Amino acid sequence: MRRYSRIAGTGSYLPPRRLTNADLAAELAAKGVETSDEWIVERTGIRARHFAAPEVGSSELALKASQRALEAAGLEASQIDLIIVATSTPDMVFPSTACILQHKLGNAGAAAFDVQAVCSGFVYALTVADAMIQSGAAQRALVVGAEVFSRLLDFTDRTTCVLFGDGAGAVVLEASDEPGILASDLHADGKHVGILCVPGHVSGGQVLGDPLLKMDGQAVFKLAVGVLEDAARATLAKAGKTDADIDWLIPHQANIRIMQSTARKLKLPLDKVVVTVDQHGNTSAASIPLALDSAVRSGQVKRGQHLMLEGVGGGFTWGAVFLRY
Ligand code: ACO
Repeated sequence: MRRYSRIAGTGSYLPPRRLTNADLAAELAAKGVETSDEWIVERTGIRARHFAAPEVGSSELALKASQRALEAAGLEASQIDLIIVATSTPDMVFPSTACILQHKLGNAGAAAFDVQAVCSGFVYALTVADAMIQSGAAQRALVVGAEVFSRLLDFTDRTTCVLFGDGAGAVVLEASDEPGILASDLHADGKHVGILCVPGHVSGGQVLGDPLLKMDGQAVFKLAVGVLEDAARATLAKAGKTDADIDWLIPHQANIRIMQSTARKLKLPLDKVVVTVDQHGNTSAASIPLALDSAVRSGQVKRGQHLMLEGVGGGFTWGAVFLRY
């Protein structure tokens, strides 16, 4: 009998400070940077985002999302034997945010490491956890996407600082005879490093290079739309399924226009797409598990339904996971 991994519970957490587009526009205006609610909504679909307080790091957001996912799964932290955190905004250069989270959860001994694939991080992490559970290397995994992207933003660059937010989402994945994750498909093409990056690094006690986010928005847009369709089709083919088998598309929440375009290509009506970008902005690796948890808790996503999770981001990286919830 095939051994699957299936989602036993989901959780998420948003820091309390919420800024609408009007709030952010007022803060930016004070710095001489001009933007508007109208421009942001029309080009991106974003209406609000959450920013963490300066002393709150990704591990703290991850902890709260993880506690909610464990509660939903009816499990204690001590029953988890694998922790993977997808993040590009770790608390420290090292150790990993997963190790810091493990200590906060109090389950010493569980394997713990981070995955760095920017906005594709969660589908990468889920695929690694699934493979480890299928192989018998793990029984129960906590897979988390957690980000404080606000720390990377240049608040004098209106083309990027209006797009991102902070938050975390988590799932508990456990071994099961029932599906479960059915297929996944991951890719990267490092020649596109320059279109979306934070080029700075730490060396000799200093930050060398620019530590703020740089993006060629139009290049990212064009690449994203193409690869998201390809990844979804490849994943469906591996699972022996078709477009018609998707009950919900849960894409990385970067821009409503990218999501609409992907849905059109997959011949999915827009009401089968889970959308949270309007309330969360782009939370990078946290966006898919945040959207999943919000759809589970609102009753949109039900047990037995088939979900297509899709990520795309810096690297360039992209991928999809098709699963029975
Ligand atoms: N407010 C007001 N005006 C603005 C703003 C702003 N915040 N930002 C840019 N503008 C202006 C520009 O200066 C430009 O003005 P000009 O015509 O006078 O030069 C005009 O708006 C149009 O700018 P464009 O860059 O052409 O706008 P575009 O329609 O391409 O939208 C956007 C920009 C929203 C960034 C779009 O390209 C996009 O969404 N790209 C994908 C980005 C993305 O999804 N990134 C993340 C994916 S991966 C990851 O999540 C890490």
